Amino acid sequence: MKKIYEEISDEELRALTGAIKSRYDIDFTNYETKSLKRGFARLITKNGMSSLLDLWGKVLRDREFFIGCIDDLTVNLTELFRNPEFWVKLHDEIIEDIKSRTHSYINIWHAGCSTGEEVYSMAVVLEDKKVLHRTKAWATDLSSKALAKAIEGKYPTTLADKYEKGLINYLPHKTINDMFKIENGHMIVKDKYKKHIDFNQHNLVQDSVQKKFQIVFCRNVMIYFDEQLKKKVIKLLYDSLETNGYLVLGYYDVLPEESKKMFEVYDSKTRIYKKTKS
Ligand SMILES: C[S@@+](CC[C@H](N)C(=O)[O-])C[C@H]1O[C@@H](n2cnc3c(N)ncnc32)[C@H](O)[C@@H]1O
Repeated sequence: MKKIYEEISDEELRALTGAIKSRYDIDFTNYETKSLKRGFARLITKNGMSSLLDLWGKVLRDREFFIGCIDDLTVNLTELFRNPEFWVKLHDEIIEDIKSRTHSYINIWHAGCSTGEEVYSMAVVLEDKKVLHRTKAWATDLSSKALAKAIEGKYPTTLADKYEKGLINYLPHKTINDMFKIENGHMIVKDKYKKHIDFNQHNLVQDSVQKKFQIVFCRNVMIYFDEQLKKKVIKLLYDSLETNGYLVLGYYDVLPEESKKMFEVYDSKTRIYKKTKS
């Protein structure tokens, strides 16, 4: 038997994403076809519908419903200290470098921050390197639901063991209690980290960026984009970096061939790139 996502044709997908774009000005037209079909299939099942046609009218008629769908169309998966070797590199080399050449504010952009775990992990690293007090982090995502969770910074204590292992992997002297207040089965990120982070809704496909940053994170976001869209977003990330700034991608993010000449590979294993010229 065919799975729901296999029943969605490319034409149907193009027609629906085109209609969403004109109705809501949110552009999914260059998202990677397979993952977007899976996203629509998730929504069909979740809402007890049987085909894309059932979903179609509801998505286009009901703005609230559509906003709630964004999380299923994208994937919000994230965790604290994902890929420990990356955080070691960041702690021992990248922050050291930026610290030595920037004496005022360190500006960092987390593009596609999801529910906040990545940006809070970064805040812990910055605190350990004694530069958190002079850091301004801008954390953005398309999903307002994910952003609301990020701002709250509240995660179930069932994740505590996993998170503590992540922390111990590279900062053995830190414990989960340094980072979180524990309240009613939840761990809540302490204000000393939150106050350095500005969370905003921003669409990488359509919105511009006015600031320059020393580090730009865009981990595990472009895996859902087609090649053309990746190139466009990489250009945006490039333009938002200072010369000698670092671009951090996810382990499964591959730079399009044409975009490779814009950056020097700093560390291929942890997907860190450097902008060496403007
Ligand atoms: C898999 S999560 C990655 C979270 C985090 N960066 C990490 O690696 O742990 C991908 C995030 O990208 C966001 N996203 C997808 N399309 C986007 C767009 N056009 N603009 C901004 N964020 C987007 C999704 O909402 C989702 O929260």
